[in-house]
Amino acid sequence: MNKKIFCTTLPLLLLGWTITAAADPQRGEMLYENHCSECHGEAVHFRETRKAETLDELRTWVIRWETELGLEWNNSDVEDVTKHVNRRFYRFAESP
Ligand code: HEC
Repeated sequence: MNKKIFCTTLPLLLLGWTITAAADPQRGEMLYENHCSECHGEAVHFRETRKAETLDELRTWVIRWETELGLEWNNSDVEDVTKHVNRRFYRFAESP
């Protein structure tokens, strides 16, 4: 991620923290872009041997990585990012 993107998204992210409550895939996108996309490009989610085969497994991966990175996301952060990554890459059926 380049510096400019980081500097413009970080304040938005902080603002997001103070004003959002409900599940919000856009916020998930922001969190993902800030914390997750620098290691793996999109390719990790498309690779033939991809590991997440269900929405639950995908959520487990999200939790695994945010724990690994020490981000201390709450449930709604995890849901937002799971939804974002799912809609963007995996497209598993979501429960309503
Ligand atoms: C330090 C680098 C790094 C960061 C930061 C990182 N990941 Fe990953 N991620 C990886 C690697 C490496 C793998 C492949 C692991 C494997 O194959 O066992 C992976 C795999 C995954 C997968 C599984 C892909 C599949 O096969 O279906 C998901 C989902 C994922 N990461 C989500 C996240 C999320 C969400 C974040 C941010 C909270 C994140 N990652 C941050 C390195 C990273």
